[in-house]
Amino acid sequence: MDTSMSRVRVWDVPVRVFHWLLVLSFAGAWLSAESERWRLLHVTLGYTVAGLVAFRVVWGLVGTKPARFASFVRGPAAVLAYLKGLLAGRAPHTTGHNPAGALAIVGLLGLAALTTGLGWATYNELGGDLAEEGHELAANLMLLLVGVHLLGVLVGSLAHRENLVRAMFTGHKRGQPDEGAQRAWAPLGALLLALVLGFWAWQWRSAPQPAAAWQTAAVEPAQAQGPLAALKAMLDDDDDDDDDKEGH
Ligand code: HEM
Ligand code: HEM
Repeated sequence: MDTSMSRVRVWDVPVRVFHWLLVLSFAGAWLSAESERWRLLHVTLGYTVAGLVAFRVVWGLVGTKPARFASFVRGPAAVLAYLKGLLAGRAPHTTGHNPAGALAIVGLLGLAALTTGLGWATYNELGGDLAEEGHELAANLMLLLVGVHLLGVLVGSLAHRENLVRAMFTGHKRGQPDEGAQRAWAPLGALLLALVLGFWAWQWRSAPQPAAAWQTAAVEPAQAQGPLAALKAMLDDDDDDDDDKEGH
């Protein structure tokens, strides 16, 4: 371990709030994907993923130093050199994201944008089967890349003898002080969290009561009603609604 390095704050609060909300929303969107019954929950969590990615792109341009794309996205040569170093057991430690991790991060953000864009198109009946199949394919690719990301986090933690998962909670890693985040930006992190919770609460409240959701529908309830109607209906424990919600 390089003792010339000290403990510095690398991940500001917005990055950490973004990351764990993304994990939660992606997992929830994934788990609620299959059934028509969960569609509105799926869409709500999918929109959350899209909003989080939009935030992260802006923060990657104007945020703290370690959060900025310009500080961690590297070319293929740097990625290869890092991976070779890893295999040889002497990959250089980076204060922020390492070059290989950065590549996965860009891929995850890109696939999240693609998945949610195609999901939106499918939901609004644009783009036909192509959008629907593209949505599912993009989601599957993203899951695959999440697996690679987790493996990378494990390998990186072992190679550098540093608990990277803990750092994504505490914000602190070993590093040079001038490479850290100058400020924690806690109020911005709190605002991001409040916006997401507010969006979820608003979606929940604007979902009509289950009875209304299933009775008014000349159109498919999932399309016509507020986004969490399906979840409310499910919690209402009414089993007679299956005829009303034919898939498309
Ligand atoms: C749904 C799955 C996940 C997605 C989409 C995802 C996405 C991301 C993204 C976009 C970043 C970059 C953070 C930033 O700079 O803003 C990141 C970093 C990170 N993620 Fe995840 N993540 C996922 C799951 C997880 C899980 C389950 C863990 C822990 C067990 C984890 C641990 C980390 C760590 C430690 C970093 C920082 C890596 C480094 O030190 O360079 N991720 N992840
Ligand atoms: C990262 C976020 C998302 C993930 C991981 C995801 C994943 C999936 C998956 C895997 C399926 C296929 C389920 C199956 O039939 O087995 C699916 C279906 C669907 N998703 Fe998403 N999705 C996301 C975001 C969205 C968004 C934002 C919307 C709409 C605004 C959306 C709308 C839909 C719809 C309408 C279907 C059903 C398509 C059909 O008729 O078969 N999804 N999603």
